[in-house]
Amino acid sequence: MNSELDILILAAGLGTRMRSGKAKVLHQLDGRPLIAHVCETALKLDPANILVVVGHQAEEVADAVGKEFSDPRIKFVTQEKQLGTGDAAASAREALKDRDSQLLILSGDVPLIAEETLRKLIDNRAAAGILTVRLDDPTGYGRVIRSADGMFERIVEQKDASQAELAVGEINSGIYSFDTRKLFAALAKIGNDNAQGEYYLTDVPGILKGEGETVALFLHSDPLEIEGVNDRRQLAEMERRLRARTIERLMLESGVTFVDPTSVYVSPRASIGRDTVIFQNVTIEGRTAIGENCIIRPGTRITSSKIGDAVEIRDNCLIADSTVGDRSIVGPMAHLRGNAEMAEDCRVGNFVELKKTHLGKGSKANHLTYLGDATIGEKTNIGAGTITCNYDGKDKHPTTIGDNVKIGSDTMLVAPVKVGDGASTAAGSVVIEDVPAKSLVAGVPAKVKKTMSEKA
Ligand code: UD1
Ligand code: MG
Repeated sequence: MNSELDILILAAGLGTRMRSGKAKVLHQLDGRPLIAHVCETALKLDPANILVVVGHQAEEVADAVGKEFSDPRIKFVTQEKQLGTGDAAASAREALKDRDSQLLILSGDVPLIAEETLRKLIDNRAAAGILTVRLDDPTGYGRVIRSADGMFERIVEQKDASQAELAVGEINSGIYSFDTRKLFAALAKIGNDNAQGEYYLTDVPGILKGEGETVALFLHSDPLEIEGVNDRRQLAEMERRLRARTIERLMLESGVTFVDPTSVYVSPRASIGRDTVIFQNVTIEGRTAIGENCIIRPGTRITSSKIGDAVEIRDNCLIADSTVGDRSIVGPMAHLRGNAEMAEDCRVGNFVELKKTHLGKGSKANHLTYLGDATIGEKTNIGAGTITCNYDGKDKHPTTIGDNVKIGSDTMLVAPVKVGDGASTAAGSVVIEDVPAKSLVAGVPAKVKKTMSEKA
């Protein structure tokens, strides 16, 4: 742990420009709230404390953070009224005033800042360090004004800027490092006599500079890391660029084919193996891992799942929190969820749903079937229209099916129930009691009709 580093994340604002009932930092990028991205990066720096300043929907923001991280170093301080970023930082005074530390300030609405960039910023020991970037269109951001010798002079907000200042392309990222004590001393000196009537954190570096302290500027080259989300257009644009960058990396570094990269969504947290082909309109979310030589056909969504090598996912499948083994084929129009596991060489066909079910090696469920809370052995065939009746209206019950079983079309397996190895059920059976190995059951309720000889 870096005991001399604290991190403050500003996240109390509503984000008026989002035109939303939901606090801005709760809006999602890559399927996770903006604030979660920032907390994740903050944790990588291993600081002594992470303080999140909350205000608007404080409870929801704290919940969203708590859902993803249980690190006790993350704490919350409340800013009662959103009087500006300077006031937001000042609300951490009680928590941090006795710390002899460096304070890294992050913005809850700048989600893509990278760990390495922040490490460069905190390596400096100036009273203040500011991360900046040059933008073609700096509209909306605070401009960084340098003096003739190129040194920092002050930050001026868009709404307070003169025409000449508005022409400056170097912007304030809203990410700073401060000597903690000097920050709080300077915060006591800021006012709100400006176009927005707010207490600006951006006034602090100017105050420090005026007191003879060093203010270091870190001009970064990657705008995507530094851009903030203030409205939905920026949010969509950031999502688009994040996606484009991820797909480009997968094509150039991982050797993945995208038939139509512009219509595919892939999370930057996903991994995809060499020579896998992704067709149009595919969505790959969360920490999904897809192996080599797979084919993912159009219209499929895969979320937080593991797909082996040489797997084919046919059109329009939904695969969530599940595993598909090597050489298996899924779909078209299949649904895997809740820890469904297909072993190797399996086949799950159209209109088949698997929930919390293990399908053993080489087993098949090709048509119109629901398998829930089931454990199915190897080389077993599940006939069309089979249903594990796993829910009695109150509780869920398990179904266990052995190896080399043939479940006839339209069989109802009323759980809890077991079907032994090598057994068969006739079409239309309603199985309410365990089926012995190597027997054939039929009827409603199903009864043993014959027991097969070893050879049968
Ligand atoms: C801020 C900077 C601007 C910079 C930009 C970078 C100020 C005055 N301006 O402007 O120079 O270019 O970020 O993205 O700091 N917040 C609070 N409490 C408040 C107000 C804001 O916690 O009272 C939080 C917000 O939730 C947000 C962050 O501070 O996460 C930044 O606030 P925002 O209103 O988005 O500031 P910008 O106008 O973007
Ligand atoms: Mg902002």
